[in-house]
Amino acid sequence: MDRTLEGYPVIQPANRLNAIPPYLFGEIARLKADAIRAGKDLIDLGIGDPDQPTPSPIIDALQSASHQPETHRYDESPNGDPIFTSAVSRWFSRRFGVELNPTQHILQLIGSKEGLAHIAWAYLDPGDLTIVPSPAYTVYRVNSLLAGASVYEMPLRAERGFLPDLTAIPSDVARRAKLLWLNYPNNPTGATASLEFYGDAVRFCREHDLLLVNDAAYIDVTFDGFRAPSVLQVDGAMDVAIEFHSFSKMFNMTGWRIGMAVGNPAAIATLNKLKSNVDSKQFAAIARAAAYASEYADNHATLDIIRRRRDILIEGLNALGWRLPYPKATFYVWLPVPPGQTSVSFAKRLLEEAGVLVIPGVGYGAAGEGYVRMSLTVSGDANGERIQNAVDRIGAAGFHP
Ligand SMILES: Cc1ncc(COP(=O)(O)O)c(C=O)c1O
Repeated sequence: MDRTLEGYPVIQPANRLNAIPPYLFGEIARLKADAIRAGKDLIDLGIGDPDQPTPSPIIDALQSASHQPETHRYDESPNGDPIFTSAVSRWFSRRFGVELNPTQHILQLIGSKEGLAHIAWAYLDPGDLTIVPSPAYTVYRVNSLLAGASVYEMPLRAERGFLPDLTAIPSDVARRAKLLWLNYPNNPTGATASLEFYGDAVRFCREHDLLLVNDAAYIDVTFDGFRAPSVLQVDGAMDVAIEFHSFSKMFNMTGWRIGMAVGNPAAIATLNKLKSNVDSKQFAAIARAAAYASEYADNHATLDIIRRRRDILIEGLNALGWRLPYPKATFYVWLPVPPGQTSVSFAKRLLEEAGVLVIPGVGYGAAGEGYVRMSLTVSGDANGERIQNAVDRIGAAGFHP
């Protein structure tokens, strides 16, 4: 038995954990810790976690649901609290004009991350292949690797509006792969997809017998009147697609851990088969508060703040010479790094010379090199003053594209 972990005996972990890529941002995390220790005023544009509180009517709904004793017990419903699944079905009908059967097409999740991770485990065996965008939220790739599958990285490039070129996927990859992952509105690029693009993706997946896994966590974090579509609005999508939704980003509920998968009944049942052997669902009072949110809550006040920050950041960076579009959705600005820099070296310099923390794009996949991600969910910013401060510091430090 090894005695390496602070003198405690260490049982050898499963080899599959070696598939988790090394933590790329060790140095940035260290610089951040140093800056905080030194009492520096750091503007943290790193994590995408709403800084505003959950709207209080949703908290009231949680309080009242938590007084219902049946919520204190195991939720033995097959696929989620029926109050939740029927509210989700009504929301989908109102919002997208798509009719979902609460018992067949909907599965309650402990946040969408949990479902996205488990869908990889439910479908992928060692030797299987999965098609993942690059850059992307890392959960798709890492869980595919943990399940033993190989990953084909499909690049998202600025010249295509950060939509993948499905025709560039080699035919043997399309033939062998089992899952095609998409995420719009997109983290980290802020890009959005049209219904027409989803139509192409559904056709591609039907042609190649792929399960289309669409991550729609930011579907209602949109600005300027833009309404993001659901892939399930495409005719025939129900045959091949499962879509993941979350209450985290829209209603400032990241800590509550509630979301849902919707779509193809076989995929819903498969994911449920795995999950029912792994977890016993979220606290039903949280599911009921989310049901309330889907029917009555409104988060326009938060979206207005995020939009104001977006405008200040884009306007400020463009005044420094960048040529950035105003993202129509998400909390993210995807910033090309100045010539001669890598995403890591630029993030490091921004932290050291401007006191602004951003995430190096390469952490989201090889095609994220050349960019950093800036999140608009900065704490302590009521009217965009912290964001303005970040722009001023970036300018004063002499950075420009
Ligand atoms: C693209 C994307 N999908 C899913 C999630 C997970 O959200 P949650 O598990 O809180 O629903 C995140 C969180 O950052 C995300 O960025």
